[in-house]
Amino acid sequence: TTRTDKMKLPRNFYRPLAVGAPAPYTELPIRAERMIHFVPPHIEKVRAKVPELIRQVDVVLGNLEDAIPADAKQAARAGFIEIGLGNDFGDTGLWVRINALNSPWALDDVTEIVAALGDRLDVIMLPKVEGPWDIHYLDQLLAQLEARHGLTKPVLIHAILETAEGVNNVAEIAAASPRMHGMSLGPADLAASRAMKTTRVGGGHPGYLVLEDADGDRPRQRFQQDLWHYTIARMVDACAANGIKAFYGPFGDFSDPAACEAQFRNAFLMGCTGAWTLHPSQIDIAKRVFSPDPEEVRLARRIIAAMPDGTGAVMIDGKMQDDATWKQAKVIVDLAELVAR
Ligand code: GLV
Ligand code: MG
Repeated sequence: TTRTDKMKLPRNFYRPLAVGAPAPYTELPIRAERMIHFVPPHIEKVRAKVPELIRQVDVVLGNLEDAIPADAKQAARAGFIEIGLGNDFGDTGLWVRINALNSPWALDDVTEIVAALGDRLDVIMLPKVEGPWDIHYLDQLLAQLEARHGLTKPVLIHAILETAEGVNNVAEIAAASPRMHGMSLGPADLAASRAMKTTRVGGGHPGYLVLEDADGDRPRQRFQQDLWHYTIARMVDACAANGIKAFYGPFGDFSDPAACEAQFRNAFLMGCTGAWTLHPSQIDIAKRVFSPDPEEVRLARRIIAAMPDGTGAVMIDGKMQDDATWKQAKVIVDLAELVAR
């Protein structure tokens, strides 16, 4: 997805309030965002490791919401501001996950962080988004704060898709503002919201399966299914249709890197850009999964070379290629170039 795709969208909700308000979001660079790495900013030891982290990940996110105790909310906000002011992020994204809009902390999260960090802040991740109204509220608040503090680029919004109502409204959320950066699946809150009977954070479940047909006395094979397929598919379609990015969210079982990799890979194949990394061990998994496979890149380059103007039909290694597969190849080559930068 490119930011220029968004130029086609109506700009009903992005109304800069003052002369000298931020340049349009269409001028923001497109970056590789294979992992959104979560850090708890109230912990000093964690803040000290940020300079090292900046060199390893595509995005550093200060988490202020769930997993941060109520009595540490203010310390986390202050710690995030310290991280933002005290480090040069270069091409690494600086994001924050604020508290939910109906919490006692959300308003101060936004006003204090934008005032303190200004243009250093790239994206606000908004949890528990239920409909476009949540995006409109934050959009207008950001427009006011950008004007007031003289920001020169807009702060983008990333929604977490983690309530049943949010999934119902996913297309409207994706289209709610040109400020939308993308969306992440939040499987833990979503499971609770839907009364799904799992205590896991993302991934599969041994009970969610189909059995092959009975065949005499032969033991029947059990095929585990992906609990998240439906939601990821809806999210990817809503995001792609609006020129924004879709992400798989958290994978909570740090002791099972193979299952984490499988979940990330499903999401990547279905169209997701990246995933959250909650533990340092997940960074390399995300890097591996969300960078295109070199073998696949080689084939994609051959397809593009064989059809210089992107039209017609050719055979490569016995497989038919045409305008559509040229576009598939372009997705892979563009991503390879983005991650190589
Ligand atoms: C993430 O916030 C989740 O609820 O899974
Ligand atoms: Mg959540």
